[in-house]
Amino acid sequence: MERIGIVGLGAMGLGIAQVYAQAGHTVVAFDASTAVRESSLDRLRSSLEPRVASGKLPAEELALLLDRIAIAPDLSALAPCDLVIEAVIEDFAAKRDLLREIEAMTAPKTVLATNTSALSVGALAHALTRPENLVGLHFFNPAPVMRLVELVAHKGASPEALSLARTLTGRAGKEVIACADSPGFIVNRCARPYYGEALALLEEGRSASDIDAAMLAAGYRMGPFSLIDLVGADINLAATRGLSAAMTNHPRYHVFKALEDQVSEGRLGRKSGKGFLFPATPGPAPADAAAIQLRIEATLANEAATLVEAGGAAPDDIDRAMRLGLNFPRGPFEGARRHGRESILSELVRLARLAPARLAGRYAICDNLPDLI
Ligand code: 3HC
Repeated sequence: MERIGIVGLGAMGLGIAQVYAQAGHTVVAFDASTAVRESSLDRLRSSLEPRVASGKLPAEELALLLDRIAIAPDLSALAPCDLVIEAVIEDFAAKRDLLREIEAMTAPKTVLATNTSALSVGALAHALTRPENLVGLHFFNPAPVMRLVELVAHKGASPEALSLARTLTGRAGKEVIACADSPGFIVNRCARPYYGEALALLEEGRSASDIDAAMLAAGYRMGPFSLIDLVGADINLAATRGLSAAMTNHPRYHVFKALEDQVSEGRLGRKSGKGFLFPATPGPAPADAAAIQLRIEATLANEAATLVEAGGAAPDDIDRAMRLGLNFPRGPFEGARRHGRESILSELVRLARLAPARLAGRYAICDNLPDLI
């Protein structure tokens, strides 16, 4: 079976290692930090012990899974890999330099993948000697549980590299959806209003608990703030800033001060022990939960319509990607249809009228929205 290399053994990298090891591949895993390297198999074992205890995972399978992951003392151990996926920090120079290093020590046919959520895969490829071998494989947190992987094809990616990444990832149990190398790909772009509108409501004085509880009551698995706490405020901020810059600071991608403050003050969420809500959980749904849901679902549909308009993805693919990538109970167009076209459009008009001038453009109705819902 193909040998998979993983670089970066934080929550994402380790989760991705688990995905391929579970599918029977030998995984060679490396992290530049000795402490992270040395703790990785214990962290993986602890995350899976509850499944063993509840009888969902036989103990022998866990032992086999751990046996298939070889923690490498240095990058050169990745030389014989067929596919190497990097999941290091969301920093262009760090990823570029690492990919160059990996390219130099692997065979010419080795496929390289970046798990970036916010950077241009094409720009990273441009820095390589064999740009055609790089693809984007964007996993969702927690990687072993979330079913979607976005396969990002930059313009110069070779059909062979895309095909190998798709086949191995699909065989490992993931739904692979191809998407263009455009800012935020499908899910991170279309999810922006989930976080952004929640941050706008927070700025208007609503509590994170009320907002999360309102969305839980509508069937969402996690409210916006619990989701930021899961993924990390730093990662969320990087994705928002990346989109904002790529979209010439359009107010739909406004970077709210509350998010910047979380990061500058170190309240990153689960990984730092404190977030917008974490370690607390949302309280009961507020009396106006339906109004909060309508507001967030109207802006989700409008954002998705802008991606369709730009030719970035088909409406059904967006709905499916949002269900699979975020476990949303329904995609943005499906959600908007439940409210009805008139409610969605009049909500956006209402929001534009009430918003401060700097934010009013967030709610401008995309031309094709009425036809999509
Ligand atoms: N490996 C395998 N299975 C695991 C697992 C692991 N490491 N961890 C949990 N599971 C299994 C559990 O055993 C359970 O299985 P079961 O259904 O057979 O009982 C199932 O996954 C659900 O786990 P839990 O019961 O522990 O937890 P919850 O039911 O509370 O669900 C959740 C947790 C799956 C995180 C759910 O709350 C959820 O779907 N939240 C939304 C998460 C999300 O949206 N993620 C995407 C974030 S965006 C992103 O990552 C993009 C990036 O670019 C920013």
